[in-house]
Amino acid sequence: MGLLLGVIGNPIKHSLSPWIHGHFLQQTGEQGIYRPFDIGEDKLDQSVDTLRLMGIDGFNVTVPYKEKIMKYVDELDKSAKAVQAVNTVVQKDGKWIGYNTDGKGYVHSLQMEHPNVFRNISNSKILLIGAGGAAKGIVGALLDRGFQSIDLTNRTVEKAQTLLQQFKLEKDCDALTLRDAEKRLNEYDLVIQTTKVGMTPNEGMQPIKLQNIRKNTIFSDIVYNPIETTFLQNAKSLGAQIHHGHGMLLYQAAYAYQLWTGIEVDPKSLLQPLEQKLKGGS
Ligand code: ATR
Repeated sequence: MGLLLGVIGNPIKHSLSPWIHGHFLQQTGEQGIYRPFDIGEDKLDQSVDTLRLMGIDGFNVTVPYKEKIMKYVDELDKSAKAVQAVNTVVQKDGKWIGYNTDGKGYVHSLQMEHPNVFRNISNSKILLIGAGGAAKGIVGALLDRGFQSIDLTNRTVEKAQTLLQQFKLEKDCDALTLRDAEKRLNEYDLVIQTTKVGMTPNEGMQPIKLQNIRKNTIFSDIVYNPIETTFLQNAKSLGAQIHHGHGMLLYQAAYAYQLWTGIEVDPKSLLQPLEQKLKGGS
């Protein structure tokens, strides 16, 4: 029998994960299916029972269940413990193990598209916008790769301070208000936008003003819908390099697929087709 894989969330009909993992299954010649499970708000308990009875081999977890699924897994990997959120569950000998591949997926995508940043890790100055779950995962993965200078800016600056404390960075890195971050923008080699600001249907919005941009700084946005956010469009027009969010989506999926199958997939060939898909193509 082939692998039974899937993704749980609500709503799930626009999830791109079935498309991505369908390609991975095809590319690697594995027998299996990957299907979306739309789980209503009060149905998680019984749906988890059903998934166990079905003998599901692994599944992804998306909004709004990344935190809620934690109480149903038998073990949490350190990637999920650090973020207190799970995006991938692996079934091993009947036990469910929760992982989080988002942060690692982000860093891998950045490395594939902007290898220069990784040539001088100890001197790279990073500004990260946001202090939610996504920010936490990315900060953890950046620290794992050896980056040390990561200032945080957030609408609620106290949350940025708390996040720095959680990672024991409060002595070496700054928590900035959005206004202070705008003023100091030219200090950074890499600026990472991790909030949902600018996501459809709020395409016109961006979290900070960019007038103090330094040419050639890399501006990165984890929002991939629209594929090029106002934040990235403006950064590009002011001379910055940019990094789109759909790469993170592909690489977090590749890590999940590897956890389920043991097979390393190279998702690079899907970047272009995914871009077309997001632009409303096939
Ligand atoms: P996620 O898990 O996707 O990171 P989250 O944990 O709800 O989502 O975090 C959302 C982040 O987006 C927070 O940093 C939030 O800022 P606050 O901590 O001040 O709430 C940020 N955010 C959301 N809407 C925003 C807006 N309109 N302007 C600026 N920041 C915003």
